[in-house]
Amino acid sequence: MKIGVMCSGSGTNFENIVRTCRFDEVVLMIYNKKDCGAKKRADKLGIPSCYIKSTDEAKIVREFVWAGAELIVMAGWMRIVTRHLIDAFPNRIINIHPSLLPKHKGLNVIQRALDAGDTVTGCTVHYVTEELDSGAIIIQGEVPILPDDTVESLTKAIQREEYSILPRAIEHVKHQI
Ligand code: GAR
Repeated sequence: MKIGVMCSGSGTNFENIVRTCRFDEVVLMIYNKKDCGAKKRADKLGIPSCYIKSTDEAKIVREFVWAGAELIVMAGWMRIVTRHLIDAFPNRIINIHPSLLPKHKGLNVIQRALDAGDTVTGCTVHYVTEELDSGAIIIQGEVPILPDDTVESLTKAIQREEYSILPRAIEHVKHQI
């Protein structure tokens, strides 16, 4: 299964995917923030990467198709995607989100979980649809919120859980395709 990854940030999930998948499985990483950590990780790991503006979905589709990607993983892609991309890879785009969906969709969700006084949060891998953070859920991982947790400590705890569930979600989806 050839995998394409989309990133905007530091790329720790991207690196974890590369390290947990089979050799040569991740064929391309597309990023929309120049100088993001994900780009540096791609160079270090020897994975082809390509900067594309998030609005240029035609180019994103073209590059993934040329690379032979069959499954697209949004690993910290911080923009909403549209029908143009979704229709090119029907039921083949998944996203990781740092909350227990359907709770806390959108941005700043770790701060929002703390502000809401939640005692548990976590992360979700789901299929991508046009409606933000609303596609069918593939797998979730729970993380307790401790009394002295901060955004920083909780982010780290959630990311540790993400490194466990995202590779498992990818394995699951591979068997559905
Ligand atoms: C991850 O925690 C992911 O859940 C989040 O961005 C982070 C990327 O970290 N995604 C979203 O918030 C999407 N709405 P990384 O670049 O180190 O993998």
